[in-house]
Amino acid sequence: MKVLIIGSGGREHVLVWKLAQSQRVEKIYAAPGNPGMENLAECVPIHVDDLEELLRFAREKSVDLTVVGPELPLVHGIVDLFEAEGLKVFGPSRKAAQIEGSKSFAKSFMARHGIPTARFEVFSKLANARNYIWNHEGKLVIKADGLAAGKGSIVCGTKSEAQKALEEMMLRNVFGEAGHRVVIEEFLEGEEISVLALSDGKHILPLVPSRDHKAAYDDDLGPNTGGMGAYAPSPFVSDALMDEIRRTVLEPTIHGLAEEGYPYKGVLYAGLMLTENGPKVIEFNCRFGDPETQVVLPLIESDLADLMLATIDGTLGDVALQIRKAWAVCVVMASGGYPGSYEKGKLITGLEGPFEKDVVVFHAGTKRVDQAIVTNGGRVLGVTKIADSLEEAIAGAYRAVKQIHFDGAFYRRDIARKGLDYLAARAM
Ligand code: AMP
Ligand code: GLY
Repeated sequence: MKVLIIGSGGREHVLVWKLAQSQRVEKIYAAPGNPGMENLAECVPIHVDDLEELLRFAREKSVDLTVVGPELPLVHGIVDLFEAEGLKVFGPSRKAAQIEGSKSFAKSFMARHGIPTARFEVFSKLANARNYIWNHEGKLVIKADGLAAGKGSIVCGTKSEAQKALEEMMLRNVFGEAGHRVVIEEFLEGEEISVLALSDGKHILPLVPSRDHKAAYDDDLGPNTGGMGAYAPSPFVSDALMDEIRRTVLEPTIHGLAEEGYPYKGVLYAGLMLTENGPKVIEFNCRFGDPETQVVLPLIESDLADLMLATIDGTLGDVALQIRKAWAVCVVMASGGYPGSYEKGKLITGLEGPFEKDVVVFHAGTKRVDQAIVTNGGRVLGVTKIADSLEEAIAGAYRAVKQIHFDGAFYRRDIARKGLDYLAARAM
């Protein structure tokens, strides 16, 4: 098979790496891809949102399977476009992708189907939103309705912080159109987890539950980022809890979308808070999570191309997932200043290794300049280690991180620490 991966981040590097292991796959293209993939894929300079050009390329090269990494082309209808031309493509349709593309759609969908989530209200008028804030006690989360590159949710501890967040979104347009409508919701307390599940519109195949680390600094301090590291499986999710998540979240979501006329095909990402009153949905994404994918896919032994074709063909019900009994930890190395402004073009050294067994360095924001690899984004690398114990996976990931250098590099030192503490407490 010839495969085309759309995107250029760490998630897409993992997808290339995993699909390259498939018996079925003989050629991989990545658009636009990144230098980390160069030995596995041919990178072609097409922007992720140039849908017409991507379609032209897929037809010209007779691509057998296109895999869409980021949300933007999905929300803009790339799957509908490719399917209309008879091309196989992994991802949800434009309408099904609204589950991520519009937070107000997602929230009212959850309300219609009894899916547990934070209490919320939707506002298009600033005055009404302000009123709501002033009459509400306790922490609130203010969310831009549309896509905001993962930065559109602001946790507000006080009324004046909430007021400021509202004004930035609704008056000062910091997220453009996306912030003209806002969702205001109650703050949920608990442990956060990410559940990625494949669905062909009817059947559901949950992958290993994982844990992202959204805050920029250790101990979950600082501003939210796209994700500073991840580990899997999450020890906080027992088999019984996974069954509950399937029953209360995944099934009603997949069945509800089908009932409403938008069957969901692809990978559904449920961001969940494990609250005192059970798991509640923080958000849905219509794609693989980043960096969660860097720890989830390395633990899957099944052929990813088979899983994706079954997702597209509606035969996921016949598939059993083979999982490696191990732990995976990914530490993100970021540019100094991220998630605020940062410099690019810093030389990265140490990438050629050698690294110890079961270490993979996924590129997220890098660029080739002649023979050198330089930084080209906020999140630069995802350094992943797979091991038989969580402790060893953590230690191995940090040993590999220490082998790599670039000016201003920073990373969290506590990725997966809470998981390790939890396991230690449980063993006592
Ligand atoms: P979102 O943009 O919805 O993914 O939110 C980004 C991050 O903000 C989440 O991963 C959570 O860490 C936090 N967050 C969002 N909504 C809530 C909520 N209702 N309660 C607590 N934390 C939240
Ligand atoms: N890691 C969070 C996301 O992919 O949205």
